[in-house]
Amino acid sequence: MHHGLPLDLTFGEGQEHMWWNNVETKPYGAYPQAWDVQVLSQLGPQAWTGGAYPGKTIFEAAPPEKTAVSYLPDQREWSSPNLYEDTPAGEWAPAQQLPEHHMFMFYLQRTCNHCTYPACLAACPRKAIYKRREDGVVLIDQQRCRGYRRCVEACPYKKSMYNPVTRTSEKCIGCYPRIELGLQSRCVVACVGKIRLQGWVSPPDKSDPNNPIDYLVHEAKVALPLYAQLGLEPNLYYIPPRWAPRPYLKQLFGPNVEQAIATYANPDDRLFGVLRLFGMTDKIIGSYQLLDKAVRALDAKGSEIFKVGFDEPIYTRPEYDAAAGVMRVNEP
Ligand code: SF4
Ligand code: F3S
Repeated sequence: MHHGLPLDLTFGEGQEHMWWNNVETKPYGAYPQAWDVQVLSQLGPQAWTGGAYPGKTIFEAAPPEKTAVSYLPDQREWSSPNLYEDTPAGEWAPAQQLPEHHMFMFYLQRTCNHCTYPACLAACPRKAIYKRREDGVVLIDQQRCRGYRRCVEACPYKKSMYNPVTRTSEKCIGCYPRIELGLQSRCVVACVGKIRLQGWVSPPDKSDPNNPIDYLVHEAKVALPLYAQLGLEPNLYYIPPRWAPRPYLKQLFGPNVEQAIATYANPDDRLFGVLRLFGMTDKIIGSYQLLDKAVRALDAKGSEIFKVGFDEPIYTRPEYDAAAGVMRVNEP
């Protein structure tokens, strides 16, 4: 038994309730149950003014005895995650108008955000949580942790999880041993939908348009943080879904939702090229070069990882002719 070691997967004793990397079916699904509703309603109104958030973050709105506006989910909320996951919101309207559906649901994939200002770290009285200088990964030192659970309470995204067997808290480790080898994390590489891309994000004033992550976040601005109003500067960014109602999306991803969707829906060659980099390699892409209807990915040292065209060749699978008992290729 080697539970609690940072390289463990979440199938050890005491980890039965843990999903470091979960997918929620929005708007109702949530893990732990209703975490988002609870955090947002505690924080109060969160209006954006002209792209800025003049309201209070969870740190600023904290009561004197706490580091952040927070709550500790109970056992019931950690169990049966994603309740009501198949329940869409809204009403069926026969004359629906695109681009928004009146009735909707969509999938929100979540891991620890390895925040720039981690509430888990700020709340730990043992200083057992640290953010690595070299890659920004936020880790819980299993030797120092004494199971105070302040981190579980303070993280608004509920991504620090208590293990009652080891009596320490655990969280997503960002697959840091892979990052050290120049490899993207497993959840990114394993995504069959090829909708994840991992790399290095720069501060906005140091954005490098040839770095694909900087391009998506700072240049094209199609990738947006989740609940930026909480004030943690989360480092996971989402391209918002196109067909969900905008007011709901704005609550999640902030005021730039419309712009992000408009840009994503009509990508220029550069954006299209960068989107083609998703799911193509297990290596971290340092930069890319846009070619004529193709894109080339380079590693941190500038060596080519791969080159891919915008269009892929189409292969027609042979059809089975049951009567004749043979496979036939239909000519186009
Ligand atoms: Fe900490 Fe939560 Fe941010 Fe992860 S998402 S770094 S657990 S505050
Ligand atoms: Fe600190 Fe959380 Fe452990 S508050 S002591 S890291 S349970």
